Amino acid sequence: MLNLQPLQTEHLLAAVELDQSCLGGLWTLEGYRRELESPNSDLLGWIRSTDPGTQSIVGLGCLWAILEEAHITLLAIHPDYQGQGLGQAMLYALLHSAWQRGLERATLEVRASNQPALSLYEKFGFNQAGRRKAYYQNPSEDALILWRNGLHYPDFLETLGIWRQQLGDRLSSGSNLISSAILSEISLESLPKISSEPAGNIQGLT
Ligand SMILES: CC(C)(COP(=O)(O)OP(=O)(O)OC[C@H]1O[C@@H](n2cnc3c(N)ncnc32)[C@H](O)[C@@H]1OP(=O)(O)O)[C@@H](O)C(=O)NCCC(=O)NCCS
Repeated sequence: MLNLQPLQTEHLLAAVELDQSCLGGLWTLEGYRRELESPNSDLLGWIRSTDPGTQSIVGLGCLWAILEEAHITLLAIHPDYQGQGLGQAMLYALLHSAWQRGLERATLEVRASNQPALSLYEKFGFNQAGRRKAYYQNPSEDALILWRNGLHYPDFLETLGIWRQQLGDRLSSGSNLISSAILSEISLESLPKISSEPAGNIQGLT
């Protein structure tokens, strides 16, 4: 079963493993632990449960709430699971968390050549607002700074609802054998649902 849910202490070693294979070791175990403990951080994972009671992590996402801004600090899907809609679902869940916290806009940085990520962010209404020269190393590359405004506007609730519907449709229909095998494991119930008011405080996804 694949569930999108907030990470817990028992998931942290698997999170570091995925981080190393997907992001080249962005955060250490201690770094992930700090995220779990911070009330200003939402750390989410696509958790795969297999028999008997073994869990692995195939996707990660994190945001920091800073004043009225959501800083998306992490988004990664295991290569074997990419291209199935899991990244899109993770970004939806992060923006849902930002909305629940009552935040007004979201921002992130991305390598200028990262076309899959740029295409994903564009779908969710992110626009380029700046560029940091040679921000990344190995290889050296500019970062593009993206922003998504209007999370606190009334029509954002409707937008979240449309995204959730589209995700549900996508995740419930596999187009080939590999994706069918993955998609049949996904719990659509674990996608955050839309309620009429932001809670202003997130303890777990609802
Ligand atoms: C970026 C990333 C999270 C996307 O996750 P994913 O699960 O593969 O993406 P999805 O299947 O949900 O695709 C959603 C959209 O992303 C874009 N996308 C995903 N893969 C793409 C590719 N190979 N080429 C172009 N666009 C792509 C498309 O717009 C896609 O929508 P579509 O399927 O309707 O065309 C994933 O590629 C990843 O983990 N990359 C490595 C880490 C990384 O770069 N993270 C971002 C750091 S800022």
